[in-house]
Amino acid sequence: MISIDVRAERSYVVKVGCDWLSEIAPHLDVRSHIGVIVSSTLAQQVRKQVPSDSRITIMEVPDGEEGKSLTTLESLWNSLALAGFTRSDLVIAVGGGATTDIAGFAASTWLRGIDWIAVPTTLAGMVDAAVGGKTGMNSPSGKNLIGSFHSPIEVLADLQWLKTLSDRDFSAGLAEVIKCGFIADPAILTCISNNSLAELRGSDELTMDLVSRSVQVKSDVVSTDFKENFAREVLNYGHTLGHAVELDSGFELRHGEAVAIGMVYVAELAAARGLITQEVVIQHREILQSCNLPIAYKKSAWPQLLKIMALDKKARGSSLRFVVLTGVGRTTRLEDVNEPELLEVYERICV
Ligand SMILES: NC(=O)c1ccc[n+]([C@@H]2O[C@H](COP(=O)([O-])OP(=O)(O)OC[C@H]3O[C@@H](n4cnc5c(N)ncnc54)[C@H](O)[C@@H]3O)[C@@H](O)[C@H]2O)c1
Ligand SMILES: [Zn+2]
Repeated sequence: MISIDVRAERSYVVKVGCDWLSEIAPHLDVRSHIGVIVSSTLAQQVRKQVPSDSRITIMEVPDGEEGKSLTTLESLWNSLALAGFTRSDLVIAVGGGATTDIAGFAASTWLRGIDWIAVPTTLAGMVDAAVGGKTGMNSPSGKNLIGSFHSPIEVLADLQWLKTLSDRDFSAGLAEVIKCGFIADPAILTCISNNSLAELRGSDELTMDLVSRSVQVKSDVVSTDFKENFAREVLNYGHTLGHAVELDSGFELRHGEAVAIGMVYVAELAAARGLITQEVVIQHREILQSCNLPIAYKKSAWPQLLKIMALDKKARGSSLRFVVLTGVGRTTRLEDVNEPELLEVYERICV
């Protein structure tokens, strides 16, 4: 097991490669109520694994984005009320990023904030969603517009969960891992290049190395300033175009798949500016393709993508800007971009 410290308003540890059931056992002795919030596909398994104890309430939420709704939040509040949860009780969130987001938000709003532990069960959840203290939900106005900063007291990344994850979700999670490699830790890229996708999936040792390195990258960024968006922006490498592609695909593409396309785009953008060499662009394509991730998007979508990016920037009250590399492991921001330049770069990644 590898433990990584995250400094926040209240610091905590991410335990990579732990056994989540043994880790929660000590909490059972000291808390009067424990709420296990679990996504529905994992609920049956979790009911079998968690000891039967009258102090434990298991709350099932719909899988994925559907679970990040006001309806789910209300039902969680009702269950917490019914079981009599007080400020000294504990919520344990078991699921992908969507589940840890809504469960963390329920914990942050119940009695103005009670303790919670994140047990991420997807690769994306382990390396991204469960680390950093952001919790939230969707609303009719958009994704993740409502939320809070409420760090968990612990993140338990038990790699056993990854065994049942679909190949597609594993690859989508690898996109965020590769992102961490390009922005801060090139050893991640070496590890992925030296091993096939099957080898990466099949080896606990390699997975542990990739997950812990990625968590370290995210922890280093969020620990510099917990709520500061500017410092965190580096984690948005590939996300400016990526978000637009994700939305344009009507969420047919996984978040990680869209980010993969977005990373090739910003690599081409940086190369066009002479910030990185073509070799680094080729490295993006090769490594993403080796993980079964897409590296191109349809040509006809450009006007729509531009529109979405412009709306996004307006919603965030910021200018249209891109995180780009100045070398592997080094980043900067580009704000002085114009539409002809952006289209010219898009033509290099479209089909
Ligand atoms: N809070 C943050 O800082 C942050 C950062 C990044 C992403 N997010 C959020 O995370 C969410 C995406 O997370 P995700 O990619 O984990 O998706 P997800 O939570 O939607 O899970 C993907 C799918 O995998 C299934 N699943 C989960 N664990 C499994 C397992 N062990 N075996 C088999 N199937 C399993 C789920 O039921 C779901 O169908 C989005 O809602 C996004 O907004 C939050
Ligand atoms: Zn992301």
